[in-house]
Amino acid sequence: MDLFQMKELYYGYFGTRIYLPLSGLSRRWRNFFRHIRGKSDRFSQNMLLPRISWKDCTKVRNIKIWEHEKANGNVRLSELGILSALAADCGNGTNLFEIGTFDGRTTLNFAMSSPAQCTIYTLDLPADLDTLFSLSDGERHMVDKPKSGSRYEKHRESFPAVIGKIHQLLGDSAVFDFIPYKDSCSLVFVDGSHSYDNVMSDSRAAMKITNKGGVVIWHDYGVWEDVTKALDELASCEGYDLRNISDTSLVYWKKT
Ligand SMILES: C[S@@+](CC[C@H](N)C(=O)[O-])C[C@H]1O[C@@H](n2cnc3c(N)ncnc32)[C@H](O)[C@@H]1O
Repeated sequence: MDLFQMKELYYGYFGTRIYLPLSGLSRRWRNFFRHIRGKSDRFSQNMLLPRISWKDCTKVRNIKIWEHEKANGNVRLSELGILSALAADCGNGTNLFEIGTFDGRTTLNFAMSSPAQCTIYTLDLPADLDTLFSLSDGERHMVDKPKSGSRYEKHRESFPAVIGKIHQLLGDSAVFDFIPYKDSCSLVFVDGSHSYDNVMSDSRAAMKITNKGGVVIWHDYGVWEDVTKALDELASCEGYDLRNISDTSLVYWKKT
């Protein structure tokens, strides 16, 4: 193993075994001290989903993390570690589907961690395309970029076979034709627009394209209010068994 991959292994270990438990501990301490001082967290949202440990969602393994630096709009290092472990669980030859490419950091890690014969589809909104539903305030900066997937493109020359697993799709997820992917995906990652209508529409599409035994993961539960509201509703009004992965903003659902 070369030194370059030692660094990726280190960030995989650090993200899930050190950063994740420490961030959970620090959040619990903060809440405890707020509670004894009689103060409430003005940013905290009412989150209704039951929690699940990441260790009950995927095999605990030594994964590697590529492009560990987090840009505004990316998932946290610990979340990237969990997503990579889930990608490694995917059946060889199955599809992975991501709604919301941004700079391609999650896409790259899906390609690196999933079995060799998997295909990674990643859908992103071109900056100049009108959308069916309005976007949330504050997410325009993730849409307005010169190119989707710049982080995985950087690795194409060094890892042509791995990056060749990625298929970049462009369009508005609310009107995108998901039918060709129906029941074909072992992992679907919903991280597109954070507006209520888009989250609802993306969630329904994600659940349809997931295969039996496959998993859907959402990002930003408890972070973006509309995401929290939409996912709480899917669980409480429609009976979906959604779980918030402890100490993360990820939500987990397995298709049975
Ligand atoms: C939070 S970023 C994704 C971050 C990425 N998964 C990561 O962590 O590396 C959200 C992305 O969703 C895209 N997006 C927003 N609305 C969309 C829509 N209606 N259809 C498809 N993509 C959309 C944005 O352009 C942006 O690239």
